[in-house]
Amino acid sequence: MRKDPLAGGDRPDYGDEMFAFEHPSQRERLQALAVVCDPPTKAVISRWEVPPGARCLEIGAGAGTVSRWLARRCPGAEVTATDTDLRFLAALRHPGVRVLRHDVRTEDFPSGTFDLILARSVLCHLRERDAVLARMVSWLAPGGRIYVEDPSFFPAASSSDPVVRRLGGAITTTLASVLGSDVEAWARSFPAPLLGQGLVEVGVRVHCSTLTSENAAGAAWRLSVADLMPVMDQQGTLPEAEAVAALAHLRRTDFIDVAHAMIAMWGVLPSGRGRERNHAVDQTG
Ligand SMILES: C[S@@+](CC[C@H](N)C(=O)[O-])C[C@H]1O[C@@H](n2cnc3c(N)ncnc32)[C@H](O)[C@@H]1O
Repeated sequence: MRKDPLAGGDRPDYGDEMFAFEHPSQRERLQALAVVCDPPTKAVISRWEVPPGARCLEIGAGAGTVSRWLARRCPGAEVTATDTDLRFLAALRHPGVRVLRHDVRTEDFPSGTFDLILARSVLCHLRERDAVLARMVSWLAPGGRIYVEDPSFFPAASSSDPVVRRLGGAITTTLASVLGSDVEAWARSFPAPLLGQGLVEVGVRVHCSTLTSENAAGAAWRLSVADLMPVMDQQGTLPEAEAVAALAHLRRTDFIDVAHAMIAMWGVLPSGRGRERNHAVDQTG
């Protein structure tokens, strides 16, 4: 049942009104984000051997671009792509991909089930992200690897453009107050959450893309602002008239800035050594 993000009572989640998949622009927004985010994500994952029979899990797979790529790149791997809303995954037909409706907050997998677990732009939106991360680590087989990537809006906060600073601040505040998202400090703390889980070969990588009126990052920002506009207006974080003016600013042909950062962390569950703390780092990040 859909919840009113402003009505109090039940607290809304990702996809309840904000970023709801029934909004016509959601597929377009996820595809624009994939254009921006997939190349750096794939560049990191491509370094790892994923042999035939490897059991892979992508949590919150969205439009499924990463799962599809992984299955094509690693023939014989068993890729499970989950989401709470499967409508954009329905068309993901690949013999190596199993699509599963699964809420990572409340539903489990047996411990030691997966050799590779991925989650991009999911944990930042979950209030219980630390507990969820710990459960995800428990689903890793010994020697298995986890990859978590999330946005942090610190580049927008330091922009010389007041409109970008204002938009980044309004998005950050609104997502935090309505959904409990953290698109600021959580990803900026990487890779500490994985070191805290006792993982080894821990690495971190940051990717910032240019934001223009023409590129996919710009399209994703405009679609996000348009999606969040009613809630930002009602919350008082960004009045609608200001959001409309900001959208026009983002469409200017001479507009150029740095978007949010996508920060990835990864690590390996030590084989046969339990989950003791080990701060060995992956120096290639
Ligand atoms: C910003 S999108 C990211 C999609 C994809 N991972 C990507 O990076 O292109 C967040 C995704 O997480 C899913 N999601 C949100 N809450 C979830 C939960 N509790 N369990 C599983 N998936 C969830 C959403 O439905 C959505 O597909």
